[in-house]
Parts: sequence; structure tokens; C-alpha cells
Amino acid sequence: MSDTATLEYKGKKIEFPVIEGTENELAIDIKALRASTGIITLDPGYKNTGSCESAITYLDGEKGILRYRGYKIEDLAEKADFLEVAYLLIFGELPTKAQLDKFHNDIREHLEVDEDIKKIVDSFPRTAHPMGVLSSLTSALTAFNPSVVNINSEEDMYNAVVKIMGKFPILAAWTLRRRNSKPYDYGDSELGYVENILCLMFKKPNEKYKINPKVVDALDKLLILHADHEQNCSTSTVRIVGSSHAGLFASLSAGVSALWGPLHGGANQAVIEMLESIRQDGGDTAKYMKKAKDKEDPFRLMGFGHRVYKNFDPRAKIIKKSADEVLADLGINDPVLTIAKSLEKQALEDDYFVKRKLYPNVDFYSGIIYRALGIPTEMFTVMFALGRLPGWIAQWREMRLKQEPIGRPRQIYVGENQREFVSLDKR
Ligand code: ACO
Repeated sequence: MSDTATLEYKGKKIEFPVIEGTENELAIDIKALRASTGIITLDPGYKNTGSCESAITYLDGEKGILRYRGYKIEDLAEKADFLEVAYLLIFGELPTKAQLDKFHNDIREHLEVDEDIKKIVDSFPRTAHPMGVLSSLTSALTAFNPSVVNINSEEDMYNAVVKIMGKFPILAAWTLRRRNSKPYDYGDSELGYVENILCLMFKKPNEKYKINPKVVDALDKLLILHADHEQNCSTSTVRIVGSSHAGLFASLSAGVSALWGPLHGGANQAVIEMLESIRQDGGDTAKYMKKAKDKEDPFRLMGFGHRVYKNFDPRAKIIKKSADEVLADLGINDPVLTIAKSLEKQALEDDYFVKRKLYPNVDFYSGIIYRALGIPTEMFTVMFALGRLPGWIAQWREMRLKQEPIGRPRQIYVGENQREFVSLDKR
């Protein structure tokens, strides 16, 4: 017999079932609340609202735990590669060698886009932000691939997955090529998935792209760490757009837009810009700590704080170590790393940050690594999107296979009551 929770309202007691997850998380199932009482719950920002039951990612923000399909993020970052993790997230199990080879070969079949997409890329101003361009191009894919995915066909679902896994990196890389006036390139299908992402972005015409295994390893790890994070802003967006039965590409395009914001994926760009401006201002980190705590000052310490983690973000721990290793491996001495470490040290000892449980998040160090890998700042959030792609796909797939209802929150209206219309000449 499972627990129930009782709500008392206007002398009437109503019982609701309490749902328990596999990690003993509890939720009051209020599906029947409005029908039985006429009232709704109000929770702006959904701080206490579960939107779904999901078997993809588990995180415990208090204990700093993150697992994909039950596997610890630390193990996956250390022992698996990005494509294995993508398969795991989307299909639920780690692939066998044969499954992984097939997955990769099927993706290779889609390392192309309609040539007319080049005209769309060309129509963007070179100064356009790559995330805006990527969102538009992902949406444009729908026009070039109009057939609706039959969710009852495993084959159809699989084909949609490998199609977007193949095409998305091309679109992402072309946003950079447009910005840098470089010829569009289709990469090299003989390369590994992550190697090919770098090739798509940086290969020069008439030259074979030279792989630096250290760069590939570091990027692989970053993509794994970003691959899913349960019901965050962009993932919830993908699920809610998909819940209207809009297609996969349209749902992903909306996810890219949601990720762009500086409070979400855009934070990695904002962190480097912040560290750079502190450096240019003489490197006085104490001054910026003071600004971050001043309620009259809009400045926030970018890369600090998280909606769910009220302890160290486990991804930030892995990334911090990786940043040190990558910079040493590549022989780079980046002064912003020193500034980042100084800010982190002060924040971890500062009452304001300690009381509010504000710790460095995944984006505090990721930008420093991207920079060391030669990736331009305005591409940082695009790199995040490349990592998050399998997570978005997995969440979309789960939501569609469960035939979840259309996402449609309610509201409490606080506007004017009914009033008489006043014609224009009388206003
Ligand atoms: N610097 C200074 N103060 C902060 C910061 C920060 N980075 N983050 C939160 N606070 C303060 C708030 O001012 C607030 O203080 P108060 O209680 O005195 O009013 C308190 O901490 C709680 O902050 P909220 O904004 O209510 O927390 P919320 O959970 O809504 O926001 C968020 C989380 C958006 C990540 C926030 O911490 C933030 O803006 N951080 C900087 C941006 C960032 O790094 N985003 C990346 C998130 S990770 C990701 O998307 C991959």
C-alpha cells in the first residue's frame, strides 16, 4: 500500500497518492486536484513541479550525484566515448561493439545535407550569433525532410535518430564557417564522430585535417558531461514542443533556442567574457566578488549557482581536473584560468555563496577548455548543443513512446476584470 498525502481545503479533506521513484524520490500525484477541488498549484519556474516520470538521468543536487541510465558520470567520462554514451541515453543500454559500429555507420550515411541549405546559411549576416543560426537551420531541416516519424515503428524512430546525429554537426560547424567566410565542408566520414566534428569546423580546403588526439579526448569528455541533465530548461522545451506532436527537428530547434540563454547554456560564453573583462580590468577578483553580492548591481558570478545542485556540480569537478590537464598537455598558460581559480577559492569561503549553496557549475571551467582547444568563444554554446543532442533526442523519444499528453500549464489570472470597451475617439 503506497503512501498518500492529505490536503485540507475549506473543511474538506482530499487524499492524493504519493509516487516513489527507483531512487526513493517522492512526489504527490496531483493529477486529480483540479477536478476534485477546483484549485490548481502555482509554481513559477517549476521549482517543485515534476513534469514527467523519466528513466534516463538521475541527479541528486544535494549529494552531487549524476548518473545516465544508472551509470555514474565519473565512470562514463573516464571509460566510455561520446557515441557510446549517446547510444546509452537514447536506447537505454550500453551498446555491444556490433551495435556501436552499426550506429556509427548508420550515422555516417547521413553526413550530408541538402545543398540548398547552403543558400540559407549564406543568407544570414556573418555577424549573426551561431546559436540563432543553428536553431534556424535545425528547423529548416524539417522542410527538407518533411516525412513524419511514425513513433510506432522502431525502424522509423531509429532512422530519425541517426539522421539528426549525422546532420546536426554539419549545421553546427557551418554556423562557424559562415561567420569566418570559410567554404562549407562535409567533413570526413572515415573519422570518429568527435574527430569529425573538429574536422567539419576547422578543415582547410585541399588539406587533410590533422587530428590531435589530446584535443579529441578533451572534447569527447566535455560532450559526455553535457549529454543530458534531466528536465532542465532546454530539455523541458524539447519535450513540451514535441508533446504537440511537432516533429523531432522542430522540437530540437526549440531546444537550441532555450539553451542559448545566458542563464542556461549561454553561461559558458558568459563565463569567459566575464573572466576576460576582469583580466582587462586589472584582475581584481575581490572587486567582482563584491559586485556579485551587491543586490543593487546586476552583475552575477557567471558559472556559479545551479537550480538543482546545492553542492559541487559533479561535472564541474571532472572539468576542473580536465582543464588543468588539457592546458598542461597543450602547453597553454591561460591567465583567465588563474582568475577563475581565485574567484572559485574566494566564493567557496564567502558567507554569501556558502549560505546560498552557490558552487561552480559545469560551465565555470568548460569555456577555458574550449578556448584551449582553439574553439572561438561564440561557438561555446554550440558545442554544448552538440553534447546535449543525444539527451534531447532520448527525452523526446521517451516522451513520444509514452504517449504523454500535450504540455499545457495553467495560470492564475491577475489582470483586469471584465470592462466596457471604449471606442478610439473616446480614449
Ligand atoms: N552570483 C551571485 N548571486 C547569485 C548567483 C550568482 N551566480 N546565482 C544565484 N545567486 C543568488 C541570487 O541572487 C539569490 O539571492 P537571494 O536569495 O538573496 O535573492 C540566490 O542566490 C538564489 O538564486 P536564484 O536565481 O533564485 O536561483 P535559481 O535556482 O533560480 O537560479 C541560476 C539558478 C539561474 C543558475 C543562477 O544561479 C544563475 O544565474 N547563475 C549564473 C548563470 C549560470 O552560471 N548559469 C548556468 C547554469 S548551469 C547550466 O545551465 C548548464
